[in-house]
Amino acid sequence: MADSPNSNSMWGGRFGAGPAAIMQEINASIPVDKRLWEEDIAASRAHAAMIGAAGIISADDAAKIDAGLAQIAAEFAANGVPVDLALEDIHMTVESRLKDIIGEAAGRLHTARSRNDQVATDFRLWTRTACTRIDAGLKAIQTALLARAEEHADSIMPGFTHLQVAQPVTLGHHLLAYVEMFARDRSRFADAAKRLNESPLGAAALAGTSFPLDRNATASALGFDRPMANSIDAVSDRDFALEFCASASIAAIHLSRLAEEVVIWASQPFGFVSLPDAWSTGSSIMPQKRNPDAAELVRGRAGLLLGAFQRLAVIVKGLPLTYSKDLQDDKETVFGAFDALALSLAAMTGMVETLTFRTDRMRALAASGFSTATDLADWLVREAGVPFRDAHHIVGACVKRSEQLGVELSALPPGEAAAIHAAVTPAALAALTVEASVASRTSYGGTAPERVRQAITAARAALEE
Ligand code: ARG
Repeated sequence: MADSPNSNSMWGGRFGAGPAAIMQEINASIPVDKRLWEEDIAASRAHAAMIGAAGIISADDAAKIDAGLAQIAAEFAANGVPVDLALEDIHMTVESRLKDIIGEAAGRLHTARSRNDQVATDFRLWTRTACTRIDAGLKAIQTALLARAEEHADSIMPGFTHLQVAQPVTLGHHLLAYVEMFARDRSRFADAAKRLNESPLGAAALAGTSFPLDRNATASALGFDRPMANSIDAVSDRDFALEFCASASIAAIHLSRLAEEVVIWASQPFGFVSLPDAWSTGSSIMPQKRNPDAAELVRGRAGLLLGAFQRLAVIVKGLPLTYSKDLQDDKETVFGAFDALALSLAAMTGMVETLTFRTDRMRALAASGFSTATDLADWLVREAGVPFRDAHHIVGACVKRSEQLGVELSALPPGEAAAIHAAVTPAALAALTVEASVASRTSYGGTAPERVRQAITAARAALEE
């Protein structure tokens, strides 16, 4: 049966003319969805085997289709996917190539199937793998952070609230905070991967099909837990892609906070870290400069990831059931989010592994800003039986007086201290070292070096699971 000249070979039967050039350009997704080729071929092979086994097509045709698809996979692996806008997308690119290779039997592959369930299937498979890849990247940065935390379980730095020096903490403890964040990120991706693992294949265009399909067979051949229960939901749902983008956004926010700390810490007024040459860039005018560009780019790229979620949410939010072509842009969105997150993870991992921590500088600043004031209040509570709220006021007065005199809290003259409150003895002031402060914070989850070492052991065990 011949189509009209220039009309589409896949769906052109009712058309008299081909699409306008701009129509073709806006319509084609092959430049983007060629990335789905492995999933597309795997799903087609599963479908062909099932319709062959069910007697929907002959065993002979099923075998020809399978061999043809295997050949296409080898071709694409060797040479990449050819981009022909006239073939619109990966599904038609594969089918058209199949027709070149095996002839007429290729036309039977699309029996009991639509591009609507096909694309939903491919995209779920791709996103499942993407979750696994991101998990590996998150595990890598956790591993890097744990190594640095172990190295610095005892290193003392200022801990901040409001970016004001608050209390001394250990650097290891600070780094472990990120290990926790990335653990939650991993659990979000694992959760998303589990929930997405249902097969849309066999939903066909939207209503199911009159052919006696075995949807369980294709689901299990593709590693899905089960077929999706509702064909309308199966072709229109993109929750899985939204969940991927949402999880990726939160991970990107975590990376951005870490990147921001690298940027601040690398600045001269802080001087907490320096980046090796491999992770620094220079200035074209200022010869002395060493800029933390990679960290800044990670921080900025969080915008792309947050934007990806927003973009996809907007694409989906007003769509009537079931499929509308708006959904085609889901893939560019998720692919972009994946690429940005994978690269940001790799860059931050590289920086974490190679940063030099200026522990002398951190230690020196850890005592600034009266950072052990809480320790003095705690001492008054514990050793002198002063109620905490009173102790808070007494120490506030001590801080005020020390500030006026231009001395550290521990250097407040005994006479001055006694004038504020009799309990503020030289023994109390002598206890105010940053070492004593961190060593005393032994509560579960606290910053004491012994707690940090326990937390590292626990995090390592969790990582091995
Ligand atoms: N390229 C399309 C997409 O990515 C495939 C589905 C096309 N379905 C359709 N009814 N036109 O969404």
